[in-house]
Amino acid sequence: MISLKTGRDIELMRQAGMITAAARALAGEMVKPGVSTKAIDRAVHDFIVEHGATPSFLNYNGYPASVCISINEQVIHGIPGSRRIKEGDIVSIDVGAFYKGYHGDCAATFIAGYVDSEIRKLVEVTRQSFFEGLKFARAGNRVPDISHAIQSYVEKNGFSVVRQFVGHGIGQKLHEEPEVPNFVVPGPRVRLVPGMTLAIEPMVNMGGSSIRILEDGWTVVTEDGKPSAHYENTVLITDGEPMILTPLDGDGGFE
Ligand code: MF3
Ligand code: CO
Repeated sequence: MISLKTGRDIELMRQAGMITAAARALAGEMVKPGVSTKAIDRAVHDFIVEHGATPSFLNYNGYPASVCISINEQVIHGIPGSRRIKEGDIVSIDVGAFYKGYHGDCAATFIAGYVDSEIRKLVEVTRQSFFEGLKFARAGNRVPDISHAIQSYVEKNGFSVVRQFVGHGIGQKLHEEPEVPNFVVPGPRVRLVPGMTLAIEPMVNMGGSSIRILEDGWTVVTEDGKPSAHYENTVLITDGEPMILTPLDGDGGFE
């Protein structure tokens, strides 16, 4: 069942989304050579709690941290720890906050120092692919219209989309129906209606789309070891323009 949000639901999802997006921006500012991933996790955790929310990911299916930090060939679900960011790393930060009964969920890939132009392009194409999908996030369209826009933009640029993980509905639960794949699949073609809230989240690999999961049971890495990037916002379908509920981009990677 797809839950449709009205009035107060939307107001609270905006508030949850603002906290989540501000946490992403805070984490993004910390992406610098020498900073440990656990320092970012701590800062995000404290920020979320100080704003009266709880980290959506902490203890979710046993996940042990408040943020996922995935570096270079890591796609998603990297667990923060003692690893320090190095010059030339690309660092995907994924954060969720639960506030007054509603979740926000967003991610971005940040660049530490200098990276070569192909990796920079990967990060830019990943972010832009979200906005290509967003153009179709309108009542009357269907979920696969979003999927198709993301996939075709990514592939036109010579990269590939991950198949095993998808975007999702979001609200009182972190993961709600419908699934929002970043690729076209046969199956249900869910029609978009006002009040749907979706986490649209392209995961883009520079090389092949295959992934595997590390021994820690969480960290998703590319099979070919090439870099991967991620970008995500929580989006409300309206009767007009889609509304990004996690609007503070904090995507300082290009300065
Ligand atoms: N943004 C990710 C998702 O929507 C976050 C899940 S991480 C987990 O699936 F740790 F909570 F599983
Ligand atoms: Co998500």
